Amino acid sequence: MTTTADAAGTAPLGDRVVNRMGFGTMRITANPDRDLAIRVVRRAYELGVNHFDTAAFYVSPGGTLGVGTGEKRYAAELLRAALSPYPSEIVIATKVGTRGQKPLRERIEANLQLLGVDRLDVVNLRLADNAGSLAEPFAELARLRDEGLIRDLGISNVTVAQLDEAQTIAPVVCVQNAFGVDYPDRTLLDACGQRQIAFVPFFSLAGTDREKGTPATVRDHQQRLAWTLHQGPHVLAIPGTGSVEHLEQNIAAGAM
Ligand SMILES: NC(=O)c1ccc[n+]([C@@H]2O[C@H](COP(=O)([O-])OP(=O)(O)OC[C@H]3O[C@@H](n4cnc5c(N)ncnc54)[C@H](OP(=O)(O)O)[C@@H]3O)[C@@H](O)[C@H]2O)c1
Repeated sequence: MTTTADAAGTAPLGDRVVNRMGFGTMRITANPDRDLAIRVVRRAYELGVNHFDTAAFYVSPGGTLGVGTGEKRYAAELLRAALSPYPSEIVIATKVGTRGQKPLRERIEANLQLLGVDRLDVVNLRLADNAGSLAEPFAELARLRDEGLIRDLGISNVTVAQLDEAQTIAPVVCVQNAFGVDYPDRTLLDACGQRQIAFVPFFSLAGTDREKGTPATVRDHQQRLAWTLHQGPHVLAIPGTGSVEHLEQNIAAGAM
C-alpha cells in the first residue's frame, strides 16, 4: 500500500491544519525537464501533500541553486502550473529575504504574480546569518498583511531573541530554520513548541552540504526525515527533491 502524507499526522499552521509531511520546491528548478518538475509536484499533491514551500528566488539558471541553462524556470511558477486552480486545502508558504535592493512590496508582488494568487498564504521573512533586528522589515510585512496581500507571517534563520522581537510586532505562525541530525540544536524547535508555532526545518536531508544537496555518502534519507518528525508534534517536514522516486520514499518516511 502506498504511504500518504497524512501518515505522520497533521499539525496547525496558523489557523489552518496541514499534513506534517510537506514538500519544498527549491530542487524542482534543477530539473531541465519542465514536465517532470510539474509531475513531481502533482505526485506530491496526489500523495496528500498540502503544505508546499517556495520562493520567487528559486529560479534556474541563476537562482539559489544556479544550475541549468536556457529559459528561466521559477519554482513558484512550476507550482502554479502543477496545481492551479489550487485546491482549498493547499497552503503555500513563500519567503522574502532582507538583503535585496527591491522594496519588500515589489517582492511580495512578484510572489503573487508567479503563484497566480491575490493573497499569499504564508510569507517567511528570511534573515541573513547573524542579522540584527528584524523590526523594520517585519513591520513592513505586517503592513502588507494588514492590506490583505498576506494571510500569515513566519520568520526564517532566526534566534529566539529575533522570534521574541517579531512577536511584539505581529503574530508568527511558523519558524523555518536549518535542523536535522546534522543540526541538532533544539533551541528554536522547543521555543516554537512552547509558543504553539509550527517549526519547519530545512536541510534535514542535505545537512551541512546545504544547497549543494545531500552527499552521495548519505544513505539513510528516510531515517533522517523520520527522526526529524519525531522531534515534536509541531514539526512540519518540507524535504526537497526533483525526483518522483525520492518523493515517494520521503513521504513513506512519515510512517516510520
Ligand atoms: N528558509 C530557508 O532559508 C530555506 C533554505 C533552504 C531550503 N528551504 C526550503 O526547504 C526545502 C528543503 O531543503 P532542501 O531541498 O535544500 O534540502 P533537503 O530536503 O534537506 O535535501 C534535499 C537533497 O536531498 C536529496 N534527496 C531528497 N530525497 C532523497 C531521497 N529519498 N534519496 C536520495 N536523495 C534525496 C535531493 O536530491 P534529489 O533532487 O536528487 O532527490 C537534494 O540533494 C527546500 O526545498 C526549500 O523549499 C528553505
